[in-house]
Amino acid sequence: MPPMLEVKNISCSYDEARVITDLSLEIRAGEIVAILGANGAGKSTTMRAIAGLLHPEKGSVLFEGEDITNLPASQVIRRGLCYIPEGRRLFSRLTVRENLELGAYTESSREAIDQRLEEVFAMFPILKARSAQRAETMSGGEQQMCAIARGLMSEPRLLMLDEVSLGLMPSLVEKVFETVVEIRRKGVTILIVEQMVQEALEIADRGYVLQTGKLVTSGTARELLDSDEIRKAYMGM
Ligand SMILES: Nc1ncnc2c1ncn2[C@@H]1O[C@H](COP(=O)(O)OP(=O)(O)OP(=O)(O)O)[C@@H](O)[C@H]1O
Ligand SMILES: [Mg+2]
Repeated sequence: MPPMLEVKNISCSYDEARVITDLSLEIRAGEIVAILGANGAGKSTTMRAIAGLLHPEKGSVLFEGEDITNLPASQVIRRGLCYIPEGRRLFSRLTVRENLELGAYTESSREAIDQRLEEVFAMFPILKARSAQRAETMSGGEQQMCAIARGLMSEPRLLMLDEVSLGLMPSLVEKVFETVVEIRRKGVTILIVEQMVQEALEIADRGYVLQTGKLVTSGTARELLDSDEIRKAYMGM
């Protein structure tokens, strides 16, 4: 079977500045793949390019064998590819439930939306308990759960999570990683960007390491965890 996602030799720029150069990666169905790299390495830009929020000037992105390189983000999400950006970005004045329902905007059947709500409430009971609460009054950790749940409301086959553990206390970080594993168990393929490199590699199958917009290493999570270079550069060991 061909990979679920193939990123082939993409280059991306903002204005005139090149930030991704000739980057290729692939994800097979059912995998958890991590993108690692220092601040500014181009991790979020890579995800934005896959999600159709930014179009690469060179190269291509194939999802389930089809070229999605130049599709608008709204079309990409309809195909089952969901990007949860850094920084939550909930609609702060709306309730938890309203935020979740917006995540399912590509679905018009009320019944299907209610069904998905039940599924995400089963995964995140706190969101059910707080469904009528305004998003801005939820704690940081609860908001992060809400952002992940909102992404799941689009029923993605590939979910891209950009630093979802950022700013959470250690016990919640652990909970987020457990949740990612649970999402994968439900059949969703995952691309993850994390500052918590060790934790991310412990749940990932494989990883890609970026440095100033270029791929420098890739390998199985085990290989990366065992690499002295990676441990020194990204795990402070
Ligand atoms: N909208 C933008 N306009 C101009 N330059 C940008 C824009 N967004 C990102 N960049 C630049 O592109 C480069 C890559 O940024 P990107 O956000 O992809 O990095 P990152 O690996 O996600 O970093 P971090 O770990 O800090 O989130 C950086 O040099 C950044 O300053
Ligand atoms: Mg980023």
